[in-house]
Amino acid sequence: MKIKLQPENPLEWVALKMNLAPTPLVDTQIAFNVARAIMAAAELGIYEAIGKTSKTADEIASVCNTNAHATTQLLNCLVGVGYLKWSNGKYSLKPKYHKWLLKESESNLIAKLRFQLIEWNWMGMLEDYVRTGKTLQLHNSVNEQEWRLYQEGMRDLSISSAKELAGKIPMPTNATSMLDIGGSHGLYSIQLCKKYPNLKSTILELPGALQAASAIAGRYDTTGRVTYKEGNALNDDLGSEQYDLVMINNVVHHFTPEQNMALAKKISRALKPGGIYAIGEFIRAEKPGEGGVIASASGLYFSVISASGNWSADEMESWQKNAGLKSEKKLSIMSIPGWKMIIAKK
Ligand SMILES: C[S@@+](CC[C@H](N)C(=O)[O-])C[C@H]1O[C@@H](n2cnc3c(N)ncnc32)[C@H](O)[C@@H]1O
Repeated sequence: MKIKLQPENPLEWVALKMNLAPTPLVDTQIAFNVARAIMAAAELGIYEAIGKTSKTADEIASVCNTNAHATTQLLNCLVGVGYLKWSNGKYSLKPKYHKWLLKESESNLIAKLRFQLIEWNWMGMLEDYVRTGKTLQLHNSVNEQEWRLYQEGMRDLSISSAKELAGKIPMPTNATSMLDIGGSHGLYSIQLCKKYPNLKSTILELPGALQAASAIAGRYDTTGRVTYKEGNALNDDLGSEQYDLVMINNVVHHFTPEQNMALAKKISRALKPGGIYAIGEFIRAEKPGEGGVIASASGLYFSVISASGNWSADEMESWQKNAGLKSEKKLSIMSIPGWKMIIAKK
C-alpha cells in the first residue's frame, strides 16, 4: 500500500505531473497537521460529541468543554481532510467514519488514536535513534495511564482481525490448552476458545499490562476459559509438553534475534508433540521497498521503541527450525494488510 497525493483539479494534476508541487512539504507539514488533528479530535471527544447528528461549532465546543473559536479551526481542518461534512453552519461525521470513530461501534479506533499522542512523542526520538542506535524500550518506560491506553489501543487493532485469524489457524485435533504470549486484551485467545469448546488459554503478560489487559478481556470473554498469568516470556520457564498451541502476536519485534531464538527453544519444549508455534507480525520485506509503506514505516517505528524492528518471514521461520520445529505455512489475513502468521509444528 502507498499513501499518495490525489489531484482535485486539472491544474493540480499538471503541477504533480510536472513535479512543480513541493511534495516533501505536503508529506510532512500537511501530513503531520492532518494526523494531529484527527488524533486531537479523538482525545477531545469531538467525534462522540457529533455522533450521528449535525451540530454547530458552538454546540460541539459546549459538549467537549473546549474553546469555540479554536474548536471551529479544528472542525474546519477535519472538513478539509474529508472526515466531516459542513452544511448550513453544522458539522456532521461522514457515515463511512461512524465505524471507526464512534464508540458504539466495536471497530472504533478511538483508544488507538489517543495512544498515538504518546507514540507521537516517542517518534520525536527518531533523529537520536538514527545517530546513536539507542532505542526506547517502551515496556520499561510507560506509566499506569499509558499502559491502559496501550492495551485499549491494542484492542482496537485486534477486534476486527481476531475472528478471521481464529478461523484460519490450523489447530491440532482435540486441542485443550494454549499459551498466548503477550496476549494483552485476550481477543485472539477468546475467539479461539469460542471456536474450540475444549480449549483453555493462558495469557502470559508483563506485570504492568495485567490489570488493564484483563479488564478488557473481562468485557469480551463469554467462555470463562481465558486466564492471565503474570510473567515475562524471556525469563520464565514455559514448562514441557503442555500446550497444543503457543501463539505470540505482535511481540517478537520487541526482542533481539538471540532472545527470539532462545524463546523458540523454550516454546518447542513447552509444546505437546504435534503442537503448533504461531508467530504473528508485520512482515519486513526481503528487499527495501517491497511491502509498501506499512511494512517500512512500522519497521522504523518498532526499531525506535524496542529492541529490534520488523522481521522477515524467513527470519522467523529460521528461529522455529533452529528449535527443531517443522515449517507448516504462512497465513495472511484481509483485516491486517502487511501482516502474516508464521506457523510451525512440533
Ligand atoms: C504490541 S502488544 C501486542 C498485544 C496482542 N498480542 C496483540 O497482538 O494485539 C505487545 C504485548 O506484549 C507484551 N509483552 C512485551 N514483552 C513481553 C514479555 N517479555 N513477556 C510477556 N509479555 C510481553 C506487552 O505487555 C504487550 O501487551
